[in-house]
Amino acid sequence: MTASYPSLKDKKVYVTGGATGIGAAIVAAFAAQGARVSMVDRDAAASKALADRIHAAGHLAPGWRTGDITDQKHLDKVMDQAINAMDGFDILINNVANDQRHDPLEVTRDQWRDLMAVNLDVAFFAAQKAIGEMQKTGGVIVNLSSINALLAPPQMPAYVAAKSALLGLTKSLAREYGEDGIRVNAVTPGWVVTKRQLDSWLTPEAEEAWMQDCALKDRILPSDVANLVLFLASDEARMITGQSFVIDGGRT
Ligand SMILES: NC(=O)c1ccc[n+]([C@@H]2O[C@H](COP(=O)([O-])OP(=O)(O)OC[C@H]3O[C@@H](n4cnc5c(N)ncnc54)[C@H](O)[C@@H]3O)[C@@H](O)[C@H]2O)c1
Repeated sequence: MTASYPSLKDKKVYVTGGATGIGAAIVAAFAAQGARVSMVDRDAAASKALADRIHAAGHLAPGWRTGDITDQKHLDKVMDQAINAMDGFDILINNVANDQRHDPLEVTRDQWRDLMAVNLDVAFFAAQKAIGEMQKTGGVIVNLSSINALLAPPQMPAYVAAKSALLGLTKSLAREYGEDGIRVNAVTPGWVVTKRQLDSWLTPEAEEAWMQDCALKDRILPSDVANLVLFLASDEARMITGQSFVIDGGRT
């Protein structure tokens, strides 16, 4: 049974990349708390399926938009639409990312820029827009980093750089906007078992090796990350800001 946070009821929540994986678990978790959720994702079919599932579970279905949010104009447009639809913003979850592997010696400038755009730039510009709204009433931002920022595995320098930068961005925005009642924290997960990870990289051999290095010999599920995000977004965490919280089964 998931904890209940009365302070999250009716909160206006925005989630980037919310249609699948961890983002979908976060969207569903906020909806189950009685929050009002809007999300954006390039996967329209998955967005609709998630909204239908949440509605069928008896919760307010999230409003959703599709498209590529590395396109700054599109990000601005869908966020403005959400601000209008929800009449503001209380909570922003910067979740969107792309952990596509890339060889450091072969990455082109365009590929590098694309990876930084989805893994870092969107988080900053979504925060910029959200903070403008949150300065009226206070708010919470949670940035999804990764323990890859700490472990720096091979074949993903842009992802590692961007996820490290998100930790700095978290501290910077927390310091700058604390006076406005805005809290900013990061969540730093280990290997979370999503469909994409299972389809792409999380082979039985890779999982066995991962487990050997962990204190807790169990899978980290998207809902485990969502539970931490809920707590950080709730009033129970009212004096926590500028921090990063590792959730990795004791891997680091
Ligand atoms: N899964 C893990 O093991 C893991 C571990 C550590 C950190 N994280 C972080 O947690 C967050 C969620 O992880 P996940 O594994 O669920 O991610 P994911 O890659 O499976 O899902 C990301 C979502 O973003 C959407 N998306 C991607 N690019 C987009 C774009 N340009 N415009 C609009 N939508 C776009 C995708 O359609 C997808 O629904 C990410 O920030 C990730 O870096 C994940």
